Amino acid sequence: LTAKDLVGENILITAGPTREELDPVRYISNHSSGKMGYAIAVAARRRGARVTLVTGPTCLAEPFGVETVQVVSALEMRQAVMDKVSGSTIIIKAAAVADYRPASRADLKIKKSAECLTLELEKNPDILGELGAIKGEKILVGFAAETEDLIGNAGKKLTEKNLDMVVANDISLEGAGFNVDTNIVKLLFRDGKVEDLPLMGKLELAHIILDRAAGLRGTGIKE
Ligand code: PMT
Repeated sequence: LTAKDLVGENILITAGPTREELDPVRYISNHSSGKMGYAIAVAARRRGARVTLVTGPTCLAEPFGVETVQVVSALEMRQAVMDKVSGSTIIIKAAAVADYRPASRADLKIKKSAECLTLELEKNPDILGELGAIKGEKILVGFAAETEDLIGNAGKKLTEKNLDMVVANDISLEGAGFNVDTNIVKLLFRDGKVEDLPLMGKLELAHIILDRAAGLRGTGIKE
């Protein structure tokens, strides 16, 4: 039996990739399956939280009892997150948001002609950074998917984006990161503590992330 220790919490979670369309048939995206974010949503709901899940396109079924908002692009994800943020007590951003989108989307399929095709990309908004600027007493948890200098890069995201905790994911490790059922992460906190976790299933990790986020409630930065 799962303890209902998160009753009263209102948890906003993002999951999955975003897709940035080039034309009616093509897009730029990444390998996120949504498994990590959905696992957090399922775990939070089982523990009694009210859960809103903003998700990019995945093959996963919408979790039972979770308000699920389906989006496609980073701009749509940003809008959905901003629409749902008020009232949330904990925000956990597991989504792999595309940092760039095509500067323009062709209305018709781009034809094959030139030997070399150059795509112009423009920057997407940093949703996590925006949340960090307005978070107030909410607990804000980000993820960091890194292939080098895990602690350095994840630590930079923690401070620059005003996070309470960052889940640092070395995606070059076997059994970690994108599109697998397990993960290997380190949890970084504002006080400089680092918690080194072994390989585990994403649902088990989801519960640990929720334990730590709930533990930070009440001690979050007051603004
Ligand atoms: O979905 P799975 O297949 O289960 O894979 C899980 C995962 C690898 C996607 C997940 O564990 C993970 O690491 N998610 C974050 C992936 C990512 O985009 O990392 P990042 O270092 O590029 O982004 C850092 C943080 O900023 C993330 O919380 C991201 O949601 C957020 N972000 C990034 C860019 C952007 N424009 N807006 C954002 O909010």
